[in-house]
Amino acid sequence: MSTMSTDNGQLGSQAEQEDEKQAKVNMDNMYRFTRHIYDLTRKYFLLGRDKLIDSLNAQDEEVIIEVGCGTARNLIKMAKRYPNAEFHGLDASDEMLKTARQSIERSGLELDVKQAFAQSFIPEKLFDIKKPVTKLVFSYALSIIPPWKESIDHALDILPSGGEMHIVDFGNMQGHSPLFRRFMFWWLDLFHVYHKPEVLEYLHKLNAEGRGSITLTHHYKGYTYIAIFKKS
Ligand SMILES: C[S@@+](CC[C@H](N)C(=O)[O-])C[C@H]1O[C@@H](n2cnc3c(N)ncnc32)[C@H](O)[C@@H]1O
Repeated sequence: MSTMSTDNGQLGSQAEQEDEKQAKVNMDNMYRFTRHIYDLTRKYFLLGRDKLIDSLNAQDEEVIIEVGCGTARNLIKMAKRYPNAEFHGLDASDEMLKTARQSIERSGLELDVKQAFAQSFIPEKLFDIKKPVTKLVFSYALSIIPPWKESIDHALDILPSGGEMHIVDFGNMQGHSPLFRRFMFWWLDLFHVYHKPEVLEYLHKLNAEGRGSITLTHHYKGYTYIAIFKKS
């Protein structure tokens, strides 16, 4: 299988790049119209994002990328909260990035967002950054990304020792009624979003193998989890 690198900073075999093309089509179709109401509606569902931003603890000059940045809602908040850190965002969907660029322009901030894929982006090529990327943020992204494991592995390849992944996503909703849980998982399914216990299992496995350490907190009766994985 041949491995190629493309102009926009992607790495992967031809088959993987075909999968990515299809993923982009799927995401563009999903968000072409909903991107206009995304921030308004999702603030009631994508809980815990501000908690992640609070605990990000970005240092001056640190380089941080949000993977699957969507409308740039988090990027803008993070850049305002930590003005001396450097933030970038990438997303599979050019449709989402249209809204992201409009929001960034309205915010008056200078933020760079690019189309790329979680499992294969090359930060230096994509953003022309010279320093190591020390934090990667995944906010409600791994639950919609089919190659979630490849995305975590790729993140670990990118991060230096001591670098961190900050993940917020749907939890197991254990503290909620069975009816609510059934409804939520059915409803998420409609958007091809899945609660993935295997993500946390994988992070615990990496922790057990000494690849890093995980700090995990659950919020809103298990609706949301926040995982910080620090690479060894
Ligand atoms: C549920 S949205 C979350 C957006 C944003 N992070 C937030 O918290 O508001 C998930 C985003 O992941 C993007 N996405 C899906 N698959 C991706 C992939 N393989 N690589 C990068 N982004 C992807 C989607 O296009 C979408 O914008």
